[in-house]
Amino acid sequence: MKSTYILMFIFMLSNYLTVHSQEEPKEPLAKLWNIENDEILKYLSIEKNLSIVDNILKSLLDDVNFGGTNINVIKNMIFINTLNFTKAAEIKTSIEIRQYISLLNFIRADNSTAKLSSRFQDIDNLAKSYIPKYCMGYINSEINNIIIASCNETRNETSNTAFINAINDRMYYPIFTYYNCFNRSNNEVSKRKGGDIGKVGDIGNRILAGDGIESDEGTCSAGFLARSHSNIKYIATAGHCYNPGSYYLLPWNSTTSTVLIGEMQNYLVEPIDFGLIYIGNPIIQPVPSVRNTDSERYNELPIEDIISVSSNGAHLCLSGFFSHVRCGYVTALNGFTSDGEVHNNNIIVVNLRYIPGDSGGPIFSYKDLTHVSLNGILRGGLFDFHDNINGIAGVITINSILSVFNFLEVVTVP
Ligand SMILES: *[C@@H]1O[C@H](CO)[C@@H](O)[C@H](O)[C@H]1NC(C)=O
Ligand SMILES: *[C@@H]1O[C@H](CO)[C@@H](O)[C@H](O)[C@H]1NC(C)=O
Ligand SMILES: *[C@@H]1O[C@H](CO)[C@@H](O)[C@H](O)[C@H]1NC(C)=O
Ligand SMILES: *[C@@H]1O[C@H](CO)[C@@H](O)[C@H](O)[C@H]1NC(C)=O
Ligand SMILES: *[C@@H]1O[C@H](CO)[C@@H](O)[C@H](O)[C@H]1NC(C)=O
Ligand SMILES: *[C@@H]1O[C@H](CO)[C@@H](O)[C@H](O)[C@H]1NC(C)=O
Ligand SMILES: *[C@@H]1O[C@H](CO)[C@@H](O)[C@H](O)[C@H]1NC(C)=O
Repeated sequence: MKSTYILMFIFMLSNYLTVHSQEEPKEPLAKLWNIENDEILKYLSIEKNLSIVDNILKSLLDDVNFGGTNINVIKNMIFINTLNFTKAAEIKTSIEIRQYISLLNFIRADNSTAKLSSRFQDIDNLAKSYIPKYCMGYINSEINNIIIASCNETRNETSNTAFINAINDRMYYPIFTYYNCFNRSNNEVSKRKGGDIGKVGDIGNRILAGDGIESDEGTCSAGFLARSHSNIKYIATAGHCYNPGSYYLLPWNSTTSTVLIGEMQNYLVEPIDFGLIYIGNPIIQPVPSVRNTDSERYNELPIEDIISVSSNGAHLCLSGFFSHVRCGYVTALNGFTSDGEVHNNNIIVVNLRYIPGDSGGPIFSYKDLTHVSLNGILRGGLFDFHDNINGIAGVITINSILSVFNFLEVVTVP
């Protein structure tokens, strides 16, 4: 009897363990790289090595013989757009890089960095004067060309056609891509997902980067905890989330906001899209970590520093009220967005499908499984409305934020 009981217990326990380990959800980075959770650290280390070598390489590549680089973590390789292979052979023998040649893949390309950069600069200026509706531009180094992305629904707007005609007059031939941005039967913004988690108790006073913030205008996401030189604390978010009234904390999976945070005291939409909500309610407990509650083990990710990614192809992740945590690859380190009223440039472009309402949420990179580096906040972007896959996100970089709002610092975990 006893032994059967023990056997049964062991069977049930092992059954429980296998079921449990099978069901442990994939961390956002494991989803991005299509690997198991226990391989994440290895691939983070590969990415770090590639980024270091990429930076050494960039100091050796000139603008005329080369056309940009791109790291690929899964292939453990750096792709280098090459116009002149004689020059590439010279670089391979240089003392700084020759120990890494197994990581390098020089591939034939037509467009030099010099050509792409000067044409992109000109297109950025055109966008600034025409202000097309729902448009983004950037240099995609993987494709070795300039991409002008926009919405199918606004391509015939006067400002959009004037912008496109100006580009075509210059015979730049970038790649135009169009997303079906709107729900054709209904232009309403998407509804909240998830159910009401009911009573939230003490936890309802804590606010993390990625939590929802609600005002009369709608939902946005908290970006990070900021502090002025005189030690006043703010929740940082996107400036286009501005509303003259109060902001309330809207916890993940919740349909109703809980506690009052305060009002947005300071905001801009140009040259950068950024705003500061003064934490006026003393019961609010701001936490300098990114919310990742869908993960059991790593549900809060402390923000350790503000080191920015420097390589195309590196990962960047978003935490936001609607999407929770999602990751994508850096497509460009420098792009612009134009929404028909406002032009923002010097933004990072990530191939990441977000959901409106994630705006203002933190964009970060993982240092290990728990600690992250803040890179900026979500500005907005373009995506196909009818799927949950295709999209690009524009990131307001932390460097541009701190250079305009020079009285601020990011609160990090010591
Ligand atoms: C990263 O580079 C270091 C030093 O070159 C090396 O020891 C390590 O094995 C590399 N890691 C990976 C994952 O390639
Ligand atoms: C290619 O690079 C080599 C080595 O630097 C240089 O001598 C040559 O002029 C370059 N060719 C062109 C077409 O620029
Ligand atoms: C663009 O929009 C038009 C009009 O709404 C539609 O007929 C067409 O299918 C769309 N194009 C694409 C590529 O979806
Ligand atoms: C834009 O104009 C083109 C050509 O006139 C037309 O075929 C297309 O359906 C229009 N698209 C929309 C979304 O109105
Ligand atoms: C990049 O190269 C392609 C192929 O030669 C060319 O069609 C395109 O115009 C170039 N792009 C730019 C922005 O010059
Ligand atoms: C688009 O709008 C229609 C009509 O309101 C609605 O039934 C449908 O669910 C919406 N589609 C999506 C993907 O939200
Ligand atoms: C919140 O919603 C996500 C999916 O939207 C779900 O995976 C998660 O289990 C929910 N969390 C709670 C505490 O209900």
